Amino acid sequence: MISRETIEQVLLRNDAETVIGSYVTLRRAGSNLKGLCPFHSEKTPSFTVYPADNSFYCFGCGVGGNVITFIQKKENLDYRDAIEFLADRAGITIVREERGVGYEQKPRFERSRMFEMNRDAAIYFSQRLFDNTPEARAALEYFTVKRGLSLGFIKHFGLGFAPNSFDMFSDYMRKKGYSYEELVAGFLCGKSEHGTYYDAFRNRVMFPIIDVSGNVIAFGGRVMDDSKPKYKNSSDTPVFKKSRNLFALNFARHACKESLILCEGYMDVITMHSAGFTNAVATLGTAITPEQARMISRYTKKVILSYDADEAGQKAAQRAITLLNEVDVEVAILRIPGAKDPDEYIKANGRDKFAELLKNTKTRFEHNSETILAKYDLELPQDKIKALHELEKLISETYSSAERDIYIRIIAKKLDVDPKSVKLDVDGIISKNMKARKKEESNKFKQNAIGYSDKVNPDFMKAPAAAKNEETVIGLLYIFPEHRKHVFESDILTEDDFVTELNRRFFKYFKEQYQNGGDDLSCIGEAFTADEFGRLVKMKLKRMELTDNGTAVLEEAISSLKKSVSKKTNQKTNTFEGLYAVLRDKRKTET
Ligand code: GTP
Ligand code: MN
Repeated sequence: MISRETIEQVLLRNDAETVIGSYVTLRRAGSNLKGLCPFHSEKTPSFTVYPADNSFYCFGCGVGGNVITFIQKKENLDYRDAIEFLADRAGITIVREERGVGYEQKPRFERSRMFEMNRDAAIYFSQRLFDNTPEARAALEYFTVKRGLSLGFIKHFGLGFAPNSFDMFSDYMRKKGYSYEELVAGFLCGKSEHGTYYDAFRNRVMFPIIDVSGNVIAFGGRVMDDSKPKYKNSSDTPVFKKSRNLFALNFARHACKESLILCEGYMDVITMHSAGFTNAVATLGTAITPEQARMISRYTKKVILSYDADEAGQKAAQRAITLLNEVDVEVAILRIPGAKDPDEYIKANGRDKFAELLKNTKTRFEHNSETILAKYDLELPQDKIKALHELEKLISETYSSAERDIYIRIIAKKLDVDPKSVKLDVDGIISKNMKARKKEESNKFKQNAIGYSDKVNPDFMKAPAAAKNEETVIGLLYIFPEHRKHVFESDILTEDDFVTELNRRFFKYFKEQYQNGGDDLSCIGEAFTADEFGRLVKMKLKRMELTDNGTAVLEEAISSLKKSVSKKTNQKTNTFEGLYAVLRDKRKTET
C-alpha cells in the first residue's frame, strides 16, 4: 500500500493546472480553465479543470476525476503506477516498503539512472565509430562518404556505431554496473525465449535521441545496406515516449522562434542542420501526435511541413495540418521537386536551392487545391464539375468566412464560373454539415438519457428516478463532511436503500472511511476505477450549483430513496417508463 501521507504529498505537489496543462492547452474561464478534451474529439472546449479542488470534468464525454485519474487514463496506468508517475514528476521518493507484497518483484527504474545508462550507451556507441577495426571503418565511411557528413556534425549529433555482436555492448554495460533488467527496460537489450539476453542494436549506425533538457532518452539504429528493417527504433521506455518527443528539438528549439521545419527522417534533419537549417526536427518514425503538436506550439508560431511526396507522406501531412491548426500554429507546405526528401534534394542541389524552396512554400489551401486541380483535365466538363465539387468542399473546411471569400474568388476565376454560385454551394455544404453535427449531438444526448451508453453505472436504467436520488445523496455526501457526520452517525440511510451497485459502493466506502476515524476521501481512486471516479466528480459538480449545503435537498432525496425501495418489490423495469422518468426529471431541473 502506498501510504495516505504519500498520496496527499503527491496530490499537493502536482496541481491539476500544471499537470493537465502539459497535455492540454488550457485557457482561463472565470476561476476555472477550459480546453479541448484529450479523451474525445471536439471542436469547442467542454473539458474543464477546477484548480480549487484539483479536479477535472469533461461535459462532452463525462470523463472526470483528479490528477491521478487523469494520468491513469492518459498514460494508461493503474492507480498505483499513476501515483508513482506523479511522484517521480514532483521528485517525491516512494519508499520500497510502501509498495507491499508482490510489488517488490517489479523492478523500479529511477529516471536519473535511466538517463545515466543511456548516456553511457551513447558514449559507448560513439567511441565504437572510431575503433580501428574493419567494421568500424565501414560504419564511419557510411556517414562520411555515403551520407556526406563532416566529422564535426557526426560529433554534434553524437552519432555512433553498434558492433556486430550479441554481447559486446551488454558485457561493457554490465561491467559499468547496469543489470540486464535495466538494459531491457531501456530497450538496449532483448531477452530471448530461453531467458538469455542479447544486445538490441547490432551492426547498425546509431542515432541518439536527446530531449530538450539534454538527456539521451532513446536510439534509432540504421543498417548500412539494403537489408530490412532499415531502422530499428527504441520502443517506449520509462523515460521515452515516442509520441511526445521530436528528434533534434534540443538544437532546433534555439532557432525556431519564427518557423520550425518538420520532416520525417533523422537523416533529413541532420543534413538540414549541417546545411545551416538548424530549425529542423523530425517525428520518431510515427505520424505526428496531438502531444507533439502542442509541444511545437510552445516553441514556434509557424511550421514548414516537409514530408515525403509519396502517398503515405501526403496522408501524414494532412494529419499534421489538422493537428497544428487545432493548436493555432500556421502551416506552410514545402514541395521538393525531383527528390524523395530534403536530404536527397540538398545533396543534389545544394543549400542555396533549398533556401529558395523554403521561400516558396504553399499554404494549406494552395497545396490542397493544386493537388485537386492536378487530378483533372479542366477541358472536360465532367472533370471540371468534379474538381469544382472537391474544391468547394475544401473551402467549406475553412473557419473564417473572409478567408473563404478570397478562396471562392480564386476558384471561380480559375474554373471560369460565377463566384456567387460557388458561394451558394459552399454555404450549402457548411449548413448541411452543421445540421448533421447537431443531429449527431442530439442523438448522443438521447442515448445518454436512455442510459444505453451508461457503462459506468449499468444499473442506472433499472430505476432511473431512484438512481437520480442516489446521485444527489452521494454528491452531497462527497462535498460536505457535515452531511457525512449526520448520515453515518444515525441510521437514516443504509446501503440496502441503494438501487444501483455503484452508488452503494460509494456509500459504503464513505461510511467505512468515516467509521475508521479518518473521514478522508483523498484516496478514493484506490477503491474505484478512473471512470467511476469521473462519475463521482460529475455528481459533485451538479450539487455544487446549490447556494447552500443542500440539507433540504438531501433530506428530500433520502426520503424518496426510502420510498422507492419500499415499493421495489412490485416495480416494473420498463424502458419507456424509465425514459419518461428521466425526461420528466430533466424538465424539472431545467425549469
Ligand atoms: P534514409 O535516408 O534512407 O536513411 O532514411 P530516411 O531518413 O529518408 O527515412 P525514411 O523516409 O525511409 O523514414 C523516415 C523515418 O521513419 C526514419 O527516420 C525512421 O525513424 C522511420 N523508419 C524508416 N524505416 C523504418 C523501419 O524499417 N522501421 C522502423 N521502426 N522505422 C523506420
Ligand atoms: Mn532519406
